[in-house]
Amino acid sequence: KKKEKVQWVCCDCGFSTGKWWGTCPSCEITGTMKEFHEAKSSDGADNKVKSGLAISEEAVGLWLPHKAEQLFPVKLEEVNRGFNHQHWRIPLSGSFGNEVSTVLGGGIVPGSLTLIGGDPGVGKSTLVLQIAALIAGHNDGATSPVVYVSGEESLEQIGSRADRLGIKSDIFLYSSTDIEDILKKAQVVSPRALIVDSIQTVYLKGILGSAGGVPQVKECTSALMRFAKTTNIPVFLIGHVTKSGDIAGPRVLEHIVDVVLYMEGEKCSSYRMLRAVKNRFGSADELGVFEMSQSGLKSVSNASEIFLSEQCSDSQFLAGLAITVIMDGSRTFLIEIQALCLSDCPMSVSPSGLINGIPASRANMVKCVLVKQAGLQLQENAVFLNVVSGLTMEETAGDLAIAAAICSSFLEFPIPKGIAFIGEIGLGGELRMVPRIEKRVYTVAKLGYTMCVVPKQAEKVLEAESLGKTKVVGCNNLKEVINVVF
Ligand code: TYD
Ligand code: MG
Repeated sequence: KKKEKVQWVCCDCGFSTGKWWGTCPSCEITGTMKEFHEAKSSDGADNKVKSGLAISEEAVGLWLPHKAEQLFPVKLEEVNRGFNHQHWRIPLSGSFGNEVSTVLGGGIVPGSLTLIGGDPGVGKSTLVLQIAALIAGHNDGATSPVVYVSGEESLEQIGSRADRLGIKSDIFLYSSTDIEDILKKAQVVSPRALIVDSIQTVYLKGILGSAGGVPQVKECTSALMRFAKTTNIPVFLIGHVTKSGDIAGPRVLEHIVDVVLYMEGEKCSSYRMLRAVKNRFGSADELGVFEMSQSGLKSVSNASEIFLSEQCSDSQFLAGLAITVIMDGSRTFLIEIQALCLSDCPMSVSPSGLINGIPASRANMVKCVLVKQAGLQLQENAVFLNVVSGLTMEETAGDLAIAAAICSSFLEFPIPKGIAFIGEIGLGGELRMVPRIEKRVYTVAKLGYTMCVVPKQAEKVLEAESLGKTKVVGCNNLKEVINVVF
């Protein structure tokens, strides 16, 4: 007979505890703790996997490791013997495939679980369908298909999309939201890859909450992970990003899976970026650039075209605009900083009232350093500062861009297009290193910028081959920057 153990689980962050709290001790949101009955197996062993899943023993056997396997530690040499690292990964062919491969760190690893996150409508379903077509089309003698499970769209919808993309590969479509059912059916087909669109629509019987809730999302992902690991079938999982920018609210998912990719793009632009945010099999610094078209996503061979095409639509060059790269977790973002220097300000404003999106103390410090160390006659000016699109920039890596924007406006000299600024400014006007500078510069290079101004010390850590045509200019202090750019 099974005993019941009561747990309280926060629906927002997944925090679980033995007693009830009005406010979740972990995420401090009130009223989110829900009662959760966890079945305890009769032998007393706290077998989280079985009890947490609360599904039949027979079904568990399908994707749980067999007890006899992996009982003893194995020598490293034996693990690596007869193991060809080159042929280990599933390659993806064509220019689109190459770009996806690069982001994944060189092909698909068998038995890996990859999460693809992004805003609704950004093109995730299209991307995975194209990946599925490539995997299924890859012919190495064996004939195994790819299973594409959708809980979002009907088979007809997926079919018509495949038709539009010109896909005729061996893909099995299945519409289901019950993860147990999905894994059972997939196991029978023994596919080359399994795709689940999306994590927010699937559920596991016996787990608290509706599909998309944290306990469901967490348990379903764990089940998929075990499926991938035991069958060696790579699994792709789609996850929508919530308003706060996370996949399914908290970051719980990212900890479970092997690879996390984010798909990003502006609503009005046809370019899409695919970034690796986490990768257990490769670098998490990779970035792929694609263009959307009627017949699907295409890789962009010359990323600078994106940059230039955006520039052409700007009919005039603006003074007082500088670009920098900030980090959010392990993701990089390009942001624009605007400055406006006014010698006779028509109204009286307090100095902090002039600044948007930048901590006032930081902005004021940069202004004063410009006056003292670079000789800019800013004293008589009101200097407005703004971070475009309402972002807030907390990082000191943006100091140099603030200074460049102010100089540009003050001198009424537009900064030539294609230049990015990365660096912290010290009180002596010296440029200082910032964390993860390689990653920031790499993003700028990949997007086809022509020049990137960085602190002198950064030159040493940057490898020329990953920079392409981008010229990296190392400067010791603000005066040098002004001489180089203006
Ligand atoms: P979709 O793949 O459905 O986005 P998601 O799964 O992230 O919600 O794509 C959204 C829309 O964009 C859809 O109507 C198809 C269209 N689209 C194209 O026409 N061409 C493309 O290359 C891509 C990626 C999308
Ligand atoms: Mg979709």
